[in-house]
Amino acid sequence: MAIKKPEEQVKAMTLEEKAGLCSGADVWHLKACERLGIGAIMVSDGPHGLRTQRAESDNLGINGSIEAVCFPAACATAASFDRALLYSLGETLGEECLAEGVSVLLGPAMNIKRTPLCGRNFEYFSEDPYLSGELAKDYVKGVQSKGVGVSVKHFAANNQETDRMVVSADVDERAFREIYLSGFETVVKEAKPYTMMCSYNRINGEYSSQNKRLLTDILRGEWGFDGFVMSDWGAVVDRVKGLEAGLELEMPGGDGSTDRQIVEAVRSGALNEAVLDRAVERILRVEEKCRADENNAPGMDIAAGHRKAVEIARECVVLLKNDGDMLPLSGGKKIAFIGEFAEKPRYQGGGSSHIHTTGCTSALKAAAEYGKVTYARGYSLKGSEEDESLLREAVKLAAESEVAVLFVGLPDSFESEGYDRTHMRLPDSHNLLVSEVAKVQPHTVVVLYNGSPVEMPWADEVPAIVEGYLGGEGIGEATADVLFGKVNPSGKLPESFPLRLSDTPSWLNFPGKNRHCRYAEGIYVGYRYYDKKEMPVRFPFGHGLSYTKFEYSGLKTEGVPGEDMTVRVRVKNVGKRTGKEVVQLYVGNRTGRNDFPVRELKGFEKIFLLPGEEREVAFSLGSRAFAFYDEAVSDWRIPGGKYEISVGSSSRDLRVTSFAEAPEKPVKVKITMDTTLGELYENPATRWFVEARIDSLIKKSASGNGSVMGIAPEKETLIRLVSGVPLRGIISMMKITRAQMEGIIDSLNSASGEK
Ligand code: BGC
Repeated sequence: MAIKKPEEQVKAMTLEEKAGLCSGADVWHLKACERLGIGAIMVSDGPHGLRTQRAESDNLGINGSIEAVCFPAACATAASFDRALLYSLGETLGEECLAEGVSVLLGPAMNIKRTPLCGRNFEYFSEDPYLSGELAKDYVKGVQSKGVGVSVKHFAANNQETDRMVVSADVDERAFREIYLSGFETVVKEAKPYTMMCSYNRINGEYSSQNKRLLTDILRGEWGFDGFVMSDWGAVVDRVKGLEAGLELEMPGGDGSTDRQIVEAVRSGALNEAVLDRAVERILRVEEKCRADENNAPGMDIAAGHRKAVEIARECVVLLKNDGDMLPLSGGKKIAFIGEFAEKPRYQGGGSSHIHTTGCTSALKAAAEYGKVTYARGYSLKGSEEDESLLREAVKLAAESEVAVLFVGLPDSFESEGYDRTHMRLPDSHNLLVSEVAKVQPHTVVVLYNGSPVEMPWADEVPAIVEGYLGGEGIGEATADVLFGKVNPSGKLPESFPLRLSDTPSWLNFPGKNRHCRYAEGIYVGYRYYDKKEMPVRFPFGHGLSYTKFEYSGLKTEGVPGEDMTVRVRVKNVGKRTGKEVVQLYVGNRTGRNDFPVRELKGFEKIFLLPGEEREVAFSLGSRAFAFYDEAVSDWRIPGGKYEISVGSSSRDLRVTSFAEAPEKPVKVKITMDTTLGELYENPATRWFVEARIDSLIKKSASGNGSVMGIAPEKETLIRLVSGVPLRGIISMMKITRAQMEGIIDSLNSASGEK
């Protein structure tokens, strides 16, 4: 008889049944327990379409998957900066899951792009945790609004493919919290994902799959996650330790040996059965919410999906350069499309996200709607060497035309799940094609199809560059629509495009060695690094042009940082075309401390404006917009002082700026004999103690030789002089006993709110 309630189901199961439920039945199914009416739900990759395998399942996809729609990968959807678009993509994916009987979609993938070299960057959103978190959150809400679960992956710090199953991401706590966890935190707290997928790698030495701090203390304890955690495919190392740490489900199913390990551990007393019961109950609770029914799955509507893929792709194209209003093209001209990608676009990446599509309309085909376009292959996708005769033919065609549109980018083998790139270059044949064509044709447009930034040695030689990313099966239509101006581009770069690989923040520490990768750049990832170092980049984070122009004015701030602030700004379309603008808000700590990024994205809104139309955009900034993770107190904290709030069109095109003052608050940090005077001075609750010492020093020096250790007795200088001295070091100077110092420490602790 079927028992409905998860807690009763757990009670009715045998030990073996419970252990069995904690690993998959096969590559894509959880186990059933027919005796109790528990079905075997199906999971599927993810993240930008369905890779559902029906007949013979295998992790590598050798047996193929069902025909499905390939939506733009996250590298592209992130460029939309559009929460509503991600929600709607999520809804469509959720509907497709229902149509195919999929209960849990394995996505979104939301690791941070620590380096442009990560082979899987195309599946991830951004180098910025705020953008990643905001977009992933709406994607998750969209999917789950259909009663289909997601698996947010890869939790956490899986930022490279090299040695991904063994490498340890050695990262400091501040960077871990601010950069690598905070996007996940947003999704968990605000979108309540049904499941999470732990990553393959280790974090500071411990595998994610058995990392109690990550899977229980932080994920559940701090963030309130109430779904279940599954392993990445094959990520389990020690099954029993993993279960205790908070890894409920092992995927895929194996030979039953790990189930037996669980049973034996319970029998021997090494594992408390309550831990197993809790895991099983968590899995059953999620299963209870899933609406998909594999036996009653009508199949998805591919044609409708394709139309949706085109619509989404249009929002993701980024216009990087457009000198002299080279674009949009007008149909009446002699236009040549050059490069094999014009005919065979690259629109998705390799690995577990690879979709079996019914096809992709090329930009060349889609352009027919706008008039006659001639074509030359320019290079062969078979290798990266140039092909003399293809190149010659392409240069000739370009010279005979009025405009040359070059399609170049990264071929499949250049970036994929499973390995990282070793350089940031395009194939030599693509680079050569651009330079040779640019020599004969001043009206040259470059269209890029790639999942991650590339070096563009020819960037100054061409007037226009369009970034199409891996834009899914609708990218051909979307590219043509943007080139010919049916669509006004509105994408913005969700990552910085550095000038060269050696400029990147992790250059000296990637991919690590001896199974360790040191995240030595700390919080300075992406634009946080380039801005702090005052370095030029090819294109900055948030950059993206439009066929119209937007003017910013009237920045107003209301409230106090840390206590719900509102920021308002007016944006006007002062050009001749309707268009969308991504209004970006950045916050910079100006309290005088140097251990902060110059600015960080803390708000964005995508708005649509008719020519001449003006709108007010309002942002509400919560406390996190100003906080940093203070390792000294193991918590988020807002230092008192000045903050710069800037709004603009990219991280390096800020149009309006204002300042706000955060009040000083006591820092709840335990003071000991080892606490330095500098640390006491920084804390407004204990600053008086240092000031009193300095005052007395100044007085003493006035009645002495007028200096302190040969330095003029000025307050600021003296504070610097003593700031590294711990309290134990001034006992003799103050002519007090150790016991008296202990008394002082007690009073300092109560002043700062510590017991
Ligand atoms: C990938 C996951 C994927 C899983 C199942 C793993 O290799 O890292 O992202 O969901 O395989 O295909």
